[in-house]
Amino acid sequence: MAKVKTTFYCQNCGSQFAKWQGQCSSCKSWNTIVEEIVQKESKSQWIEDAIEVRKKASPKRIAEIEAETDARLKTYDGEFNRVTGGGLVQGSVTLLGGEPGIGKSTLLLQIALRLPVKTLYVSGEESQQQIKLRAERVYPESENCFILNETNTQQIFNHIKQLEPEILIVDSIQTLHTDYIDSTAGSVSQIKACTAELIQFAKQTNVPVLLIGHITKEGQIAGPKILEHMVDTVLQFEGERNHAFRVLRANKNRFGSTNELGIYEMKGSGLHGIENPAEVLISKKDGELSGNAIAVTLEGMRPLLVEVQALVSSAVYGTPQRSTTGFNAKRLNMLLAVLEKRAGFRLGSKDVFLNITGGISVDDPAIDLAVVAAILSSNSDESIPSTSCFAGEIGLSGEIRPVNRIEQRIREAEKLGFQKIYISKFNTLDHTNFGIDIILLASIDKLLV
Ligand code: TYD
Ligand code: MG
Repeated sequence: MAKVKTTFYCQNCGSQFAKWQGQCSSCKSWNTIVEEIVQKESKSQWIEDAIEVRKKASPKRIAEIEAETDARLKTYDGEFNRVTGGGLVQGSVTLLGGEPGIGKSTLLLQIALRLPVKTLYVSGEESQQQIKLRAERVYPESENCFILNETNTQQIFNHIKQLEPEILIVDSIQTLHTDYIDSTAGSVSQIKACTAELIQFAKQTNVPVLLIGHITKEGQIAGPKILEHMVDTVLQFEGERNHAFRVLRANKNRFGSTNELGIYEMKGSGLHGIENPAEVLISKKDGELSGNAIAVTLEGMRPLLVEVQALVSSAVYGTPQRSTTGFNAKRLNMLLAVLEKRAGFRLGSKDVFLNITGGISVDDPAIDLAVVAAILSSNSDESIPSTSCFAGEIGLSGEIRPVNRIEQRIREAEKLGFQKIYISKFNTLDHTNFGIDIILLASIDKLLV
């Protein structure tokens, strides 16, 4: 009997080892190394067949090649187009990651249903009937979208050969398996092999491939990190499951920038892109409450006004609690330390809770000033007028630092009817004719007066 060939893979980072060990020497996680049966890969005829049909490879002048690769397939979804850098590039492989139940299948299905070209949606997760039910909610009258329940790559390529789709969507990569590898679906070697087959198919036929990938508790695309290196674009779909808002970002994009953001709202009829996110993220309330401040942040090219809510209360236990939603907890600790040291606030014995409303998370450092303002407002129980907003980064010595594209932020605040914006004194403004009061601050102790 032929000897079975096995290899040990770390299920977390995908590193390969010759023998078992307790800790992965690459990502340092424990008990993640698993033995998987691998077979020597031979040439996969079915991919070749599938490719043969769609293949148009012939020597081309460089000018012609450029003209073709530049053609992007725009989807109906403006937010998706923005995040991918203008639509799907021919022959590209895109991975969409996100936690279970966040709406990955819904997003790709509703895009697939409205595509003007023949699309194959392969699902290993839901039956055709389940997908039909969902399709009826989001867009019933599709003509070009074909649904296939299949997890074997050989079968998938056989169907591709017959159907000749122009776009392939796979939900999800963890459910696929290829006959050339013996280990179970979802294991590192299977995911790698199936992705490699799909990439080979995409590159040779110019068909864009979209893959859905699950995410582990730690926020990584489940299974191997390697997957992220293999594909062209990695999109991340995130949000609080109990909130309606979802954010789509590009973590990696070979064909565009990674700082654009798509914002969606989950409704009964699927995901709806939000063209003007500035207003929806600010909660409606009666009167002014202490502990609330509005920050003018930028995500990619778009200004985004978000509301920061802080609650400062006396600590019941010895160690005060610090808890954040949508904001980096370490950064909150840093801001509290700055407040303590540079502005003389005794927050050491206080619990501080911080929340960005709408369930989104913000990385833009310009939110610092609003965070500090919300904390101070809650601490003194004095409300900030709802017509004021903030944009500034805070340095370790308590100075308020300038932020990029300040004029665009000011214009947005002005457009939305704010009357005052607090920014750093060190911003250079070319224009001074704004219809909004600009208050220049040098350091956080000036925020108090
Ligand atoms: P789904 O796309 O199945 O998530 P994923 O593929 O990321 O696991 O989304 C499931 C959730 O979306 C589910 O909780 C129901 C909700 N949903 C709506 O609120 N409205 C809709 O129109 C659809 C299709 C789903
Ligand atoms: Mg799904």
